[in-house]
Amino acid sequence: MAQKKPLNIGLIGYGFMGRTHSNAYKRVNDFFDLEYRPVLKAVCGRDPAGVQAFADNWGYESVETDWRKVIERKDIDAVDICTPNNTHAEIAIAAAKAGKTILCEKPLAMDLVQGQAMVDAVEKAGVANTVWYNYRRVPAVSLAKKLIDEGRLGRIFHYRAEFLQDWTISSDLPQGGAGLWRLDAAAAGSGVTGDLLAHCIDTALWLNGTINTVSAMTETFIKERKHNLTGKVEPVGIDDACAFLCRFDNGSLGLFESTRYARGHKALYTFEINGEKASIKWDLHDLHRLEFFDHADDSLIRGWHSVHVTDGDMPYMKNWWVPGLQIGYEHTFVHQVADFLADLAAGRSTAPTFRDALVTQAVCDAVLDSAEHKKWETVVPV
Ligand SMILES: NC(=O)c1ccc[n+]([C@@H]2O[C@H](COP(=O)([O-])OP(=O)(O)OC[C@H]3O[C@@H](n4cnc5c(N)ncnc54)[C@H](O)[C@@H]3O)[C@@H](O)[C@H]2O)c1
Repeated sequence: MAQKKPLNIGLIGYGFMGRTHSNAYKRVNDFFDLEYRPVLKAVCGRDPAGVQAFADNWGYESVETDWRKVIERKDIDAVDICTPNNTHAEIAIAAAKAGKTILCEKPLAMDLVQGQAMVDAVEKAGVANTVWYNYRRVPAVSLAKKLIDEGRLGRIFHYRAEFLQDWTISSDLPQGGAGLWRLDAAAAGSGVTGDLLAHCIDTALWLNGTINTVSAMTETFIKERKHNLTGKVEPVGIDDACAFLCRFDNGSLGLFESTRYARGHKALYTFEINGEKASIKWDLHDLHRLEFFDHADDSLIRGWHSVHVTDGDMPYMKNWWVPGLQIGYEHTFVHQVADFLADLAAGRSTAPTFRDALVTQAVCDAVLDSAEHKKWETVVPV
């Protein structure tokens, strides 16, 4: 077999996403036939002992404790940003200026203005880029896209999505710092809107097209929490829950809800799409299944089909095991790396690109503006 081209990765941040991405880089060439091979060149974190332990465990060749060093290094081709949201823009813009290929975690930025600067930077530098909205690459979700694009649903009337969790209900939970930066508006930008609904919005834009207007409400149930960085009790600036209505350009109506206060739910991401001819449902807790109802079926056997998305002709599945055997969450990241490497060989960026993620950012901003001003908002076209 021809020698693969190395792509030297500089991973910045080694928490939850640092692990999923490292796993994907290590597995991808075992299952996908690609021109490029990711090399775990450097990992960066601020705690020298912690980052060294991560490097030893995952097989990174070197460590850095300042992300600027990763970007300065000539032996790094691709910068992977796995740090909290308030750091994405500065790192991505510097990486673009240095001519690095960039993979950035979601949400793209803290807000639209910052996101636009990031898009300008990667487009000016002409560097390949992608944003890790990984749920697009669950095979069942990719299959939903294929069925919609084939016209099997006909005209779409409704798009409904939820992302429910329950981990912040305790008023004793502090905000800020390691593990809890999501509760700190200065690090996260927003609460469930940028963290969870951003995923739902990215999937919706991909499956059902442009969202043009939104009407939202948000709530912060626990108004003050101890801040881990200052040690003081401080106001909570994030949205604990958010629900919004929207209109899509194709005439359909959208209904979205997310909260971290739905006792019993850990990561319940679901969506349902109702069309003139058929409907589709998907549930992250049963991620390898796509529920499909086709009105054209014989009326005696008409009903919801539960499609087990494991056959070789279904998206991504021919690269894994044999029909009937399913895959899981971590594979969505492997798929994104596989697509990224294939696109890199073809000289293009991988969707969702920074520009695609900017559209999601525009919807998130409109949602937060609508909740604040208690009125319908038009999504700024980007
Ligand atoms: N695609 C997804 O499904 C998904 C899931 C979870 C998180 N995310 C996104 O990934 C990003 C990271 O989230 P996470 O859950 O991995 O967080 P995490 O808290 O588990 O990890 C963050 C890492 O960044 C490091 N870090 C923070 N500031 C840094 C700095 N200035 N320099 C170097 N390292 C720094 C932390 O020490 C830690 O290692 C966020 O933007 C988040 O929204 C995406």
